[in-house]
Amino acid sequence: MHNKPAALILAAGQGTRMKSALPKVLHPCVGLPIVCHVIRRALAVQCDPVVIVVSPATEAPVRQVVSQYFPDAPVRFAVQAVPQGTGDAARAGLTAIPDFTGPVFILSGDVPLIETATLDALKEAATRAPLAFLTAQLDNPFGYGRVVRDARGHAVGVVEQKDCTPEQAKIREINAGVYCVDAQLLAQTVASLTNANAQKEYYLTDIVSAAASRGGAMAHCLDNTDEALGVNNRIDLARVSAICQRQIIAAHQMNGVTFLDPAGTLVEPDVTIGRDVTVGMGVQLYGTTHIADNVRIEGPTVVINSTLGEGTVVRSFCHIEGARVAERVALGPYARLRPEAELCANSHVGNFVEIKKARVGDGAKVNHLTYVGDADIGAGSNIGAGTITCNYDGFAKHRTEIGANVFVGSNSTLVAPLKIGDGAFVAAGSTLTQEVPSGALAFGRAQQANREGYAERLRERLKAAKLKANTKKG
Ligand code: UD1
Ligand code: MG
Repeated sequence: MHNKPAALILAAGQGTRMKSALPKVLHPCVGLPIVCHVIRRALAVQCDPVVIVVSPATEAPVRQVVSQYFPDAPVRFAVQAVPQGTGDAARAGLTAIPDFTGPVFILSGDVPLIETATLDALKEAATRAPLAFLTAQLDNPFGYGRVVRDARGHAVGVVEQKDCTPEQAKIREINAGVYCVDAQLLAQTVASLTNANAQKEYYLTDIVSAAASRGGAMAHCLDNTDEALGVNNRIDLARVSAICQRQIIAAHQMNGVTFLDPAGTLVEPDVTIGRDVTVGMGVQLYGTTHIADNVRIEGPTVVINSTLGEGTVVRSFCHIEGARVAERVALGPYARLRPEAELCANSHVGNFVEIKKARVGDGAKVNHLTYVGDADIGAGSNIGAGTITCNYDGFAKHRTEIGANVFVGSNSTLVAPLKIGDGAFVAAGSTLTQEVPSGALAFGRAQQANREGYAERLRERLKAAKLKANTKKG
């Protein structure tokens, strides 16, 4: 007897209603492929192994995505050669766990919103009967299988929409397509299924009547009917994604995050957020982004796979990807952090500044209109407006190393490879190609010359030249 349950995730259907080259179960729901939501839930309730039933056409792409998201999970694949219905899919899935005894979850690859607590409750119900399955009362049950109960209220079968009598079609309790069943009963039932029904398919739902005659089928009715929603087309996908997004945001709200406009905010499932964080309108948080306590992100901003340290403020319209931002940093508005940007504590990066593969030291400031690429800026340095690190010569990238407490005057062009020593001062408008020693003042520009009273003489000369030209024309 195994302690852990197994799971079969049925995902071999064609998904034709999606009208897509991508298999249905790989469409993203808040950034994560639909089937990955289901796999996560199965792993959360300790399923081992998790068998994913695929078709010959979807096997390769589904395997690829699953190995990317779950490299170390106990996942197996089973191929259903021809899509002949959910019962046939379960039969195919069982070939991957021929000797398994104990409870088996059967989940639909296209029903991603089932909560872990619901699966736990289902498993518990399955200790009292050979089968427990999820149901929901829907206002509009059309399209789903209907749950038939006997006079005592016990579930005795499921009838598919296309097989319903007019009376049965009025039943509002539907089958959510999620089961927890004893492996032995499952094996016996799928071996004896027939396809004598409207769709000429092998229906897994026939397992309900089979269990009813062998000790009972427990129908576990969902309080939250959203959990039962499946994705069959892109309208369903948008609806399910919106609900999934609301669940993710609600969990953060419960953990102490303020969203100024929850409906206008995107937060992917793996994002982590600390307490007393304020997330403004139009903020999009992707991937493995981590946001520490007391961060404030104002208006529209995109953050991808990045960390924002405690107390940092991000003003509107920033794009931050693959960056590490430490504590109490002031960022934006309109800043762009590209991969391997590292902003140390108390640094400032302001408007129209792009940072790539570069470190901005403690308390350093890069406030306006600047490109810093392949560079290291020491603590306390100040980089003036319009400074450019010329890191690329058309063939290779070169580094710029700026020490601590350096002052780089505005509109300077730093041609890499270049070193500027601690405490150096670079005059505004310099083009630097040579190392600047510590403490030095570097001038890299043409010297200014003033000619007293010359302005008026110049104007006279230019005026005369214009007059002469006009006379010639006239
Ligand atoms: C199924 C149930 C229905 C339930 C509904 C809930 C059956 C016969 N019907 O209907 O009672 O109300 O789910 O959402 O089970 N699949 C395969 N191989 C196949 C057919 C399907 O792997 O040959 C997979 C699909 O990829 C999908 C899942 O099984 O992930 C459900 O199949 P689908 O065709 O969507 O069944 P429904 O018509 O939604
Ligand atoms: Mg379906």
